[in-house]
Amino acid sequence: MGKPFIVIGNWKMHKTIAEAVDFMHRLPKELSLGKGEVCLAVPFTTLFAVAKAANGVKIGVQNVSQYHEGAHTGEISIKMAKEAGATFSLIGHSERRAYYHEENKVIAQKMKKCVDEGFKPILCIGETEQERKGKKTQEVLEKQLREGMALLEIKEVASVNIAYEPVWAIGTGHAATAQIAQETHQLCRDFIKKNYGASVANLVSILYGGSVNPKTIGELCRQPDIDGVLVGGASLEVEPFANIVIISREYRS
Ligand code: PGA
Repeated sequence: MGKPFIVIGNWKMHKTIAEAVDFMHRLPKELSLGKGEVCLAVPFTTLFAVAKAANGVKIGVQNVSQYHEGAHTGEISIKMAKEAGATFSLIGHSERRAYYHEENKVIAQKMKKCVDEGFKPILCIGETEQERKGKKTQEVLEKQLREGMALLEIKEVASVNIAYEPVWAIGTGHAATAQIAQETHQLCRDFIKKNYGASVANLVSILYGGSVNPKTIGELCRQPDIDGVLVGGASLEVEPFANIVIISREYRS
């Protein structure tokens, strides 16, 4: 508690430049005022235009290379993303893990590169439905945390944010209950406390993601260990996204 509540929209592979700019122009100007943080993780092609129209919204990317520059066809470096206006990146989103075979080793390299370059990383972790049913949630999440942050020094962990996104809740319309989310966030916080110390654990913001919408946000942001949300589908239209921000302010200001 005490940290600004963070709402990050994740547009995934949606929106052309024209659509993205139109969204930014329709976003209420006062949305980014006040205590909480409003952020959007946008496609690379829209980054420059969206950042120019950001009006206080923090703009980031959904993935970034672990390398500085060179022969890496199809990749985008942190330097390029920064120049175009990004300040953060999602790292290891479950769709990148599942469809692009991104493993903890590469994720750890990306996390380190981000921290070294002063580019905020949001480490995405989460268990599948099968893993939850098999009572493997804690084991899976601790492995993702341990291996994803393996190259970071203790003090560097304090500059990282975590997004807990249960795979079974992403894009399904079935958000985790606030109770499940709180319990799992607490488990992640305890892991950080045990391995990196209590002060680091307090500084790390832990976001919940998976079918967050204006109906589910209220209960979620009442939970003490939920420091923000990562919103996919409901961030594609101005109204639900703005409402999520407004409702979170009511509970956490
Ligand atoms: P969703 O996606 O809100 O559409 O479930 C969340 C995410 O994948 O970040």
